[in-house]
Amino acid sequence: MEAAHTPAELTVTSPEQMRDLGRRLAKLLRAGDLVLLSGELGAGKTTLTRGLGEGLGVRGAVTSPTFVIARVHPSLGDGPPLVHVDAYRLSGGLDEMEDLDLDVSLPESVVVVEWGEGKVEELTEDRLHVSIHRAVGDTTDEVRNVRVLGLGARWAGAELEALSA
Ligand SMILES: Nc1ncnc2c1ncn2[C@@H]1O[C@H](COP(=O)(O)OP(=O)(O)OP(=O)(O)O)[C@@H](O)[C@H]1O
Ligand SMILES: [Mg+2]
Repeated sequence: MEAAHTPAELTVTSPEQMRDLGRRLAKLLRAGDLVLLSGELGAGKTTLTRGLGEGLGVRGAVTSPTFVIARVHPSLGDGPPLVHVDAYRLSGGLDEMEDLDLDVSLPESVVVVEWGEGKVEELTEDRLHVSIHRAVGDTTDEVRNVRVLGLGARWAGAELEALSA
C-alpha cells in the first residue's frame, strides 16, 4: 500500500508563532526540497520563510524582495543554502525564471517559492505545499490557518502533524 500524504492543518495566532512554525518546518527540510508558499498578499509567507531561514541557520535576513526575484542565503554551518524566490511579478513559468537556474541549485539547496503555484511544479514531483489564509471572522487580523501538504515519494508517510507543537 502506498504511504499516505496526510496534510497538517494548523492555526497560528501571531507573526511570532508563524516564525516558530518556520523554525520547526526547517528541521524537516534538507537539500533538494522545494516548498511552495501560497496565500493572499500579507498572509505571512515571508514571515514563515524568515523562520525557515533561522531554523536552517542561514546568513542574512529574509525579506520581501522589491526588485530581486530570488535571493540565496548561504548556510552559516554545513547545512544547505536557502533560495528564497518571490514569483509574484512573474506571470510565466520556469522559462521566465531561466536565469535563476533553479533546476541547478535545487539538488543542493532548500528552495522556497512565494506565489509559485502553477509556475515551478515541473522542477520536481516532491513538493511541500504550504497554504496560509486569514481565518474567517478574525477581527485582530493575526489568526492564520495553515495547511501543509507533502507531495511525492519524499513526503509519503511524513509526520507533518509534528509541526503543530
Ligand atoms: N499570524 C500571523 N502570521 C504571519 N504574519 C502575520 C500574522 N498576524 C499578523 N501578521 C502580519 O501580516 C504581515 C505578513 O506579511 P508577509 O510579508 O509575511 O506576508 P506575505 O504573505 O509574504 O505577503 P506578500 O504576498 O506581499 O509577499 C506582517 O505584517 C505580519 O506582521
Ligand atoms: Mg512575501
